[in-house]
Amino acid sequence: MENNKFYITTPIYYPSGNWHIGHCYTTVICDALARFNRMLKKDVFFLTGTDEHGQKIEKKASELNKTPMEFINPLVDGLKDIWRELDISYDKFIRTTDNYHVKGVQTIFKQLYDKGEIYKSEYEGWYCTPCESFWTESQLKDGKCPDCGRPVQKGKEESYFFRLSKYADRILKLYEDNKEFLQPKSRVNEMVNNFIKPGLQDLCVSRTTIKWGIPVTFDEKHTVYVWVDALTNYITALGYGTEDDSLFKKYWPANIQMVGKEIVRFHTIIWPAILMALDIPVSNQVYGHGWLLIGGDKLSKSKGENIRTEITDPKELVDRYGCDALRYFLLREIPFGNDGVYTNESLLKRINGDLSNDLGNLVSRTTAMINQYFGGVLPTPTEFTELDNEVIKMANGVFTEVSKYIDLIDVPSALIEIFKLIQRANKYIDETEPWKISKDETMRDRLKTVMYVLTECIRISAIMLKPFITKAPNKILSYLSIDGEFENTFDNAKFGVLKEGTVIKKAEPIFPRIDVNKEIKAIEEMMAKSQEEKKVEEIEKIEHKEEISIDDFFKTELRVAVVEACEKIEKSSKLLKLTVDVGGEKRTVASGIANYYKPEELIGKKVILVCNLKPAKLCGVLSQGMILCAEKDGKIVLVAPEKDMPSGAEVC
Ligand code: MSP
Repeated sequence: MENNKFYITTPIYYPSGNWHIGHCYTTVICDALARFNRMLKKDVFFLTGTDEHGQKIEKKASELNKTPMEFINPLVDGLKDIWRELDISYDKFIRTTDNYHVKGVQTIFKQLYDKGEIYKSEYEGWYCTPCESFWTESQLKDGKCPDCGRPVQKGKEESYFFRLSKYADRILKLYEDNKEFLQPKSRVNEMVNNFIKPGLQDLCVSRTTIKWGIPVTFDEKHTVYVWVDALTNYITALGYGTEDDSLFKKYWPANIQMVGKEIVRFHTIIWPAILMALDIPVSNQVYGHGWLLIGGDKLSKSKGENIRTEITDPKELVDRYGCDALRYFLLREIPFGNDGVYTNESLLKRINGDLSNDLGNLVSRTTAMINQYFGGVLPTPTEFTELDNEVIKMANGVFTEVSKYIDLIDVPSALIEIFKLIQRANKYIDETEPWKISKDETMRDRLKTVMYVLTECIRISAIMLKPFITKAPNKILSYLSIDGEFENTFDNAKFGVLKEGTVIKKAEPIFPRIDVNKEIKAIEEMMAKSQEEKKVEEIEKIEHKEEISIDDFFKTELRVAVVEACEKIEKSSKLLKLTVDVGGEKRTVASGIANYYKPEELIGKKVILVCNLKPAKLCGVLSQGMILCAEKDGKIVLVAPEKDMPSGAEVC
């Protein structure tokens, strides 16, 4: 049974909502491999999901005045929609906020702590007070907080550390002994030279400043570092650390863990070290694929401005060209392991070339001829010529050739093998010239054989294409009166299976040809229009107030003031109490900016004060004026004079 199982995983996706065609790459490849292995009758488990904890999510949600879950849930639904549109056949979708995962991570963290693999120490770094974040030296941007750009101070944070450094030799040995572990091979040098040889440091695996994370059970002010939380999904999804770990026993170790090249180091250094520390075998293979580069520097020719002309939204691409076209492009275009470039044009060329010209034409021509010459009934072949045998040999060999490449996870080469047969069959039509022999009654038997050979080539190609594209193969097989189920294994990917007398229906164009120039122009116009609309929408969103006269405006007395003291107002979570100086006069002001500024940050700042506002009592503080702020999407910043001005200066 062990050899028959196939466990394949994608990374779990950040719920960003801005998913593009590049994001689909990892998952579509995994899906093709999962489907291929199912057709090999393997017991497949295909895992994907979402990576939902961490500071970024916490921050974004709070900016939108939402709880993290309110923010994440619709995004997760959106990702599942994309996978539905792309026919992704995952067996399980894990969310790191799922209860069983949270419990699993807590169990793993405790196990590692009990074994002495995790210890408590201090993490030294650069602290940004407003963001409550620690940053390492290399994370800083121009020496400032990479998130808000404000100055940072050196600080220490109590943290738990994982003894990653002690695994350096074992990981090197893993690469050495198991050449399959990290593929493609070039990534091994990258890991060894850039990360392991310079020296592995113990890894900080908990934070006290990040609340949106999994709490450490034995020290609740700590949450588990997001990457430890995320990586362990590959085993918690199988029930590791819970009462029912039967799936874990059945499927672990993973056969293939597919990841983009930027996250290889987490999967081939940290992840195996965690598994080693837990005494769990490491995965059989991590494959680090290259990136799909979107569009290059292409600008809109028509507008001459910096407008994106590439459609990158997966749903829009599926709506326009269909799921098969997008899947085929992703699987075929990028030399596996390397980067590839996506443009609208490259996608359209694949659709017109391989799918429409080669595959679509072969099916249309053959089914049309059988209908024309044999009333839509498959004839019996008689004698096979040398030419027929050459084509038959190729058709019989295609499964072996494709399997060879799938074993190497070289999906584009596997597709090339299938299309070699399709192209050969098209050439065979030109060589045998059925339209000529159909006119010669003495060549009737020859015509029968030619039609049979062609139909079998189509049938075998369709079966072989099933793991890669999900709609057209079944459609093609249905033209040959075969219901999809019957062909769900590769057993029938051999010549001579289809019975004479089978009804062959005349095929509709499966991939209608697209006029590339017209389509590119339409896309450019559409993209330019939608950008214009976006701009207009943004402008229209502002609801202006009723007009006032200049006299009305001058009724408001606005002056520059300097903040001399500031403290929190105990009874309120939103208000700060400021003491300001307005040209020598002291005033107390309550301002609702406690969520955006720390009291100590404000001292010495110049602000604009509405001086003649009627005083009002707010949470026990008599507020003598109001401080001007700018607000957008729940974010608030203070308004200040553009150059230095003395306090008391009038704003007019
Ligand atoms: N959450 C982490 C993974 C944690 S796994 C324990 C993450 N998420 S992600 O949403 O940023 O990326 C998900 C996958 O999409 C990764 O494999 C990533 O490499 C892939 N891609 C994102 N953009 C891509 C391209 N432009 N091209 C190819 N793959 C790309 O990383």
